[in-house]
Amino acid sequence: MSAAVPGSLDAVHIGIIGLGYVGLPLAVEFGRQLPTLGFDTNRARIAELAAGRDHTLEVDANELASAVHLRCSGELDSLRDCNVYIVTVPTPIDAFKRPDFAPLLNASRSVGLTLARGDVVIFESTVYPGATEEVCIPVIERESGLTYNVDFFAGYSPERINPGDKAHRLPDIVKVTSGSTPAAADFVDALYRRIIRAGTHKASSIRVAEAAKVIENTQRDLNIALINELAQIFSRLGIDTLEVLEAAGTKWNFLPFRPGLVGGHCIGVDPYYLTHKAQEIGYHPDVILAGRRINDGMGAHVAQRVVRLMTRHRIHVVDARVLVLGLTFKENCPDLRNTRVVDVIDELRGFGMQVDVYDPWGDAQQAREEYAIELLPALPQGRYDAIVLAVAHREFAQLGAAALRAAGKPDAVLFDVKNLFPRDQVDERL
Ligand SMILES: NC(=O)c1ccc[n+]([C@@H]2O[C@H](COP(=O)([O-])OP(=O)(O)OC[C@H]3O[C@@H](n4cnc5c(N)ncnc54)[C@H](O)[C@@H]3O)[C@@H](O)[C@H]2O)c1
Repeated sequence: MSAAVPGSLDAVHIGIIGLGYVGLPLAVEFGRQLPTLGFDTNRARIAELAAGRDHTLEVDANELASAVHLRCSGELDSLRDCNVYIVTVPTPIDAFKRPDFAPLLNASRSVGLTLARGDVVIFESTVYPGATEEVCIPVIERESGLTYNVDFFAGYSPERINPGDKAHRLPDIVKVTSGSTPAAADFVDALYRRIIRAGTHKASSIRVAEAAKVIENTQRDLNIALINELAQIFSRLGIDTLEVLEAAGTKWNFLPFRPGLVGGHCIGVDPYYLTHKAQEIGYHPDVILAGRRINDGMGAHVAQRVVRLMTRHRIHVVDARVLVLGLTFKENCPDLRNTRVVDVIDELRGFGMQVDVYDPWGDAQQAREEYAIELLPALPQGRYDAIVLAVAHREFAQLGAAALRAAGKPDAVLFDVKNLFPRDQVDERL
């Protein structure tokens, strides 16, 4: 006889696997109401949470303390009491830009080892349509010896949070839910409705929910790629792109995208999951990959523009000293993963320049370990030939263009990648 999903939310014991940017806020929301176990293989992460600290800055100490039913652990055995598992581990790409399923496979193995009849496994990690049931479920079946949709059930509910964004937090964002059977879908939907004030959207299948998430980021990626292509055209025409976008933006249906570096591990990575699957089934996704190519080339484009700007100002390029302001993948956020500022730095170094980096948000040790970049401890004065504002942290906005220019020599140039300052306060904008 088939098992049934937990009949009531009161009987639920949640296990969250992976306590990162996505998993921790989720664990805190559930942990305010329901018994919740947060599991992470990174012992340092468990230790910092035990000390009431979240280095991702998504959850503060008071919020962490408010989750009175939440316990965090690095021991797999601690998951044994759980009957609902929510997997929130990373989904990166490898050096060939192919999906790297290692974290999801490991997490599926962990779940399989502790799973019992009637349990529900929900995936939140971003994947391509079909991945949950084709890649993860077979591992869970193998490890547990249980049968999918007979002994245990699955769900998929993609995460939509935007790190560093305090206006759109987990409970305020409509959540897409889905399940492997109608009863599982109802259960997953009811579970999330406990914590999501904004409500839920129950998709018709796990594959629909998976596809919905991956196209959200693909659409953003492509829209930014179009603006990035326009920025390259307008720079050759000697037109300031932001002025064009502001003029075009007065039309009601012109979309307000801006040019820029497309880093982070969502917009710059997720489309490759979709293109991988498309190619596997014999469809070559020309448009999506063209957008990826343009966005991946923006770091080199920025550096080349800086070099041309310096040349026009008769600044000798080889051995010039350049200060890059900002290293994180976006403003007011400490996340350094997949930052494309490193492409600007690499290209500038390729021209023979000496590049320093200052970022009041970035973690110095992580910058050293991941990118071999030594972050400056403070903003220097009077030292540089060129300054590249790469990330629009609020500290840079508050200091203003004149104070940032003071880091340079009297004739230094300032290139504003983020269109943070008015055109007349900088030498060039992207
Ligand atoms: N960060 C975002 O803005 C965001 C938004 C929406 C969706 N997503 C998606 O959510 C997923 C998670 O992203 P994230 O940013 O939270 O990642 P993250 O790197 O911040 O956190 C992942 C956590 O999982 C842990 N982990 C890795 N393998 C594990 C395993 N086998 N068992 C237990 N713990 C394990 C890591 O130690 C880490 O603490 C990804 O698929 C991502 O694409 C992220």
